[in-house]
Amino acid sequence: MSRRYYVTTPIYYVNDIPHIGHAYTTIAADILARRNRLLGKEVFFLTGTDEHGQKVEKAAAERGRSPKEHADLMVTNFMEVWKKLGISIDAFIRTTDDEHVRTVQGLLQMLWDRGEIEKRQYTGWYCTPDERFWTEKDLVDNKCPDCGRAVEQIKEENYFFLMSKYQEKLVSHIAANPSYIMPESRKNEVLGFLRANDLGDLCVSRPKSRLKWGISLPFDDGFVTYVWFDALVNYFSATRYLAPCSASAPKGGFWWPASLHLVGKDILTTHAVYWSTMLMALNLPLPEKIFAHGWWTVEGRKMSKSLGNVFDPHAMVDKYGLDAFRYFLFREVPFGADGDFSEEAVINRINIDLANDLGNLLSRFSTMAEKYTSGTIDVRPNTPPAVHQATSELAGTSLAVIDELLADTYWDSLRFNIILERLWDIVRAANNYIARTEPWKLAKNDMESVTCVLFNIWNALRVTSLLVRPFMPETSGKISTQLGLDRKSEEDFTDAVKWDWRPDYPIKVAKGEQLFPRIEKITERTDKMTEDTTAAGAAPVAPIAPIEQTNLISIQDVMKVELKVGKVIEAERVKKSDKLIRLQVNTGEMRQIVAGIGKAYTPEDLVGRNIVVVSNLQPAKLMGVESQGMLLAATGSDGVPIIITPEKDAEPGSRVK
Ligand code: MSP
Repeated sequence: MSRRYYVTTPIYYVNDIPHIGHAYTTIAADILARRNRLLGKEVFFLTGTDEHGQKVEKAAAERGRSPKEHADLMVTNFMEVWKKLGISIDAFIRTTDDEHVRTVQGLLQMLWDRGEIEKRQYTGWYCTPDERFWTEKDLVDNKCPDCGRAVEQIKEENYFFLMSKYQEKLVSHIAANPSYIMPESRKNEVLGFLRANDLGDLCVSRPKSRLKWGISLPFDDGFVTYVWFDALVNYFSATRYLAPCSASAPKGGFWWPASLHLVGKDILTTHAVYWSTMLMALNLPLPEKIFAHGWWTVEGRKMSKSLGNVFDPHAMVDKYGLDAFRYFLFREVPFGADGDFSEEAVINRINIDLANDLGNLLSRFSTMAEKYTSGTIDVRPNTPPAVHQATSELAGTSLAVIDELLADTYWDSLRFNIILERLWDIVRAANNYIARTEPWKLAKNDMESVTCVLFNIWNALRVTSLLVRPFMPETSGKISTQLGLDRKSEEDFTDAVKWDWRPDYPIKVAKGEQLFPRIEKITERTDKMTEDTTAAGAAPVAPIAPIEQTNLISIQDVMKVELKVGKVIEAERVKKSDKLIRLQVNTGEMRQIVAGIGKAYTPEDLVGRNIVVVSNLQPAKLMGVESQGMLLAATGSDGVPIIITPEKDAEPGSRVK
């Protein structure tokens, strides 16, 4: 296992005000940096700002500032928001840093000297807001294929990086390294594109007559560097002057290549194609992995200033708390997929997973510890018979989850939602353990069992606090304190996280504040959504006939229902019922569902089938059998249920919307 971990975020345009989309990438990198530090690795976590180019030049001019003055003012927005979000960066790079500028120029000179850059007469279509050239055939309805805005024709001399030379080599590299581009669907998109199209050469200059705010080409002072060439180099230049340096991380080549570049799906091509081929031409090793995450939308629409639906991370933290916000972002949707952000969904997660499951577990535990043992917990070597079965089930679940989460599988594929889901299996198992062992009854005559139960809940909470630490550092600390843990004893994470780890000091529980108070309802929406879509340029549409209906619900109500794809793993009839069938369903997690479909289906019909499940339904008992959700079925003409199945194979656990 490599002892070195270098993770990057994109460098953000200084013109933007940080929103939850930016926060998403940076918190993801923070989670990974924290986990790797816990594993004892040397970590370098880099973020920063992209400060050159036309947009900054223009925004600065409009405000009567120099571009550098403008960047100096705007950069503080990012520095402040990262502080607020508890981001543990090791360095912050600005593309206006002298050292970065020198590195860019040094690399350009090297490519020029090696004949990897050529000067050519060029005619192309230019999209000013995107700062990108397009060929005639790229255009869609004569507009920019990326943003749909007008383009202008430009004829000029420019410098080109001979990117096309590397097309074959890049295809081979991606094909030979299956985790170079992730998730897999994105890798396939990039490969598909590269196999079906001729890669052109990349224009890496802009004449100063058109743009002054950029890094001058070292071999022609009449031009500045294309902003993407300048920006991508940040990942390498930072290793030269910003990376931590120690006896085990010596200065020089220690930090390159990066372990992981985290990017949003919109900037995957620039990383997977431009950056990879630039590195090939420079004879530098390629990063180990580029992961493209999905986008957050709001009510299905892109967040944008003009729509007024941009969520500010500061406001989210003030309203819901830092850790709840961090938890939500990574529990709610798979990292590679798009997700719809809503405060209703945040509140749901807080109330169910955080207040109900985790918060309650801790407060029930500390209340019982106070009541039955005055807060002192004995580490008992033996498990009394009365609680033996329940205890070994809790241990079984916990051991399995610990093994999975210590392994790299989920982490390597950045399946944060699965990691949290699995971790909550311990939390839920511990809550079930309390329900099953009923310590309040044991306390009447079996204090040995009470102590054993308390110790095991303590242990489940202790392990949870360690495993949740990268996601929720503050909460993890609060749990540890309430459990009376001595932080020093947790220093060796991989050892401390083991189920059979035992403290060598007496455990004294310190009941504290409730971790996550329930939130009753939204007081006031935090974004400023405008309902006036005509203002946003929507085309007028023909009037439609209203539908007479009195039972309408709002989109917020719909968003409360969590629907997921589930795969039926086992099915059997519930004893003494001809209607009920008990299903074991994989919805990302295993759950038991009891469904009244026994007259229309046999258990054999159901195994292996994909179904749609309401996954956040309160559990209920049907003929004494617990059901953790409900499957969706239509009612056929004869009143017989017809199960709803996704039209194509979908991953178990995918959201249905
Ligand atoms: N400056 C370039 C990156 C250069 S990296 C060498 C840039 N900056 S950006 O500020 O526009 O975007 C930075 C990141 O924020 C991108 O990864 C982008 O995908 C991400 N997001 C912007 N809006 C987003 C959402 N609504 N949701 C999730 N991420 C989004 O591109």
